[in-house]
Amino acid sequence: MMRLEGKTAIVTGGAHGLGRAIALRLADDGADVMVADVLGPDAEVVAESVRAKGRHAASFEVDVSDSAAVGAMVMAAVEAFGHVDLLVNNAGVSGEAGLLEMEEAHWDRIMGVNLKGNFLCSQAVAREMVARGEGGRIVNITSTAGANARPGASAYASSKAGIIQFTRVLALELGRHGITVNAVGPGMTLTGSEVKRPPTEEYQAAFVGQVPMGRAGTPSDVAAAVAFLASPDAAYINGQVIFVDGGYSAGKLSVSG
Ligand SMILES: NC(=O)c1ccc[n+]([C@@H]2O[C@H](COP(=O)([O-])OP(=O)(O)OC[C@H]3O[C@@H](n4cnc5c(N)ncnc54)[C@H](O)[C@@H]3O)[C@@H](O)[C@H]2O)c1
Repeated sequence: MMRLEGKTAIVTGGAHGLGRAIALRLADDGADVMVADVLGPDAEVVAESVRAKGRHAASFEVDVSDSAAVGAMVMAAVEAFGHVDLLVNNAGVSGEAGLLEMEEAHWDRIMGVNLKGNFLCSQAVAREMVARGEGGRIVNITSTAGANARPGASAYASSKAGIIQFTRVLALELGRHGITVNAVGPGMTLTGSEVKRPPTEEYQAAFVGQVPMGRAGTPSDVAAAVAFLASPDAAYINGQVIFVDGGYSAGKLSVSG
């Protein structure tokens, strides 16, 4: 039996990049998947790929920072699958802006999607899981930027640091309901995303130069960690962050002469 057979998942931001890889990996492991994204037609394309793997799938157009839309998403998932076992809070936006130049709208957008979106989706799904009384899993996608500061990323890095602490608090609140809450923190991961500008070659080279394993991450590296946290093997792991970054966040490498 596949390890997620009979389980149902919502993956936010599932239309592209890491979310797409996560949705497809969960389907490979036997889960039925709702692909939720602000780009509805693109989410449906991924849902089709899930169906091609022999799993049930649904797509849903949602802005995760809109509470009414998030409520409708969870209702639609329950209608489609009967219940929700797993929420992957993956939808996220990034962007660079130094403090002195930053527009208020930049801060609000990043916090709204990354942190408030995580709160709204977690609350709506957790209420559903608690009412059902059979536990569940929440996996939040943070970033090495949530632990390692870099100039120009105060909004993004703060949103991702917030997700780490949000994960820990939810683990304390929801554990007694049999719901685990963990986070996965990718380092730089090349996704070939159609909606995100890839980092410049110089940035990529500088970043990879600091990765002990000497390469950027792949979407399947990240999806495998999410699938593990969703699996029965991770039943007693709660409130943890797994950085999937080739060792980058373990420490700054020192330059030796
Ligand atoms: N790729 C990386 O190197 C990397 C590194 C660390 C963390 N992350 C995190 O992983 C997650 C996915 O990143 P990615 O690289 O795949 O990005 P991406 O831009 O390729 O994909 C993000 C997806 O989220 C969707 N989305 C954006 N705003 C939304 C909203 N308001 N509501 C619903 N969906 C929305 C987009 O349409 C897109 O499908 C993000 O949370 C990101 O911060 C990525």
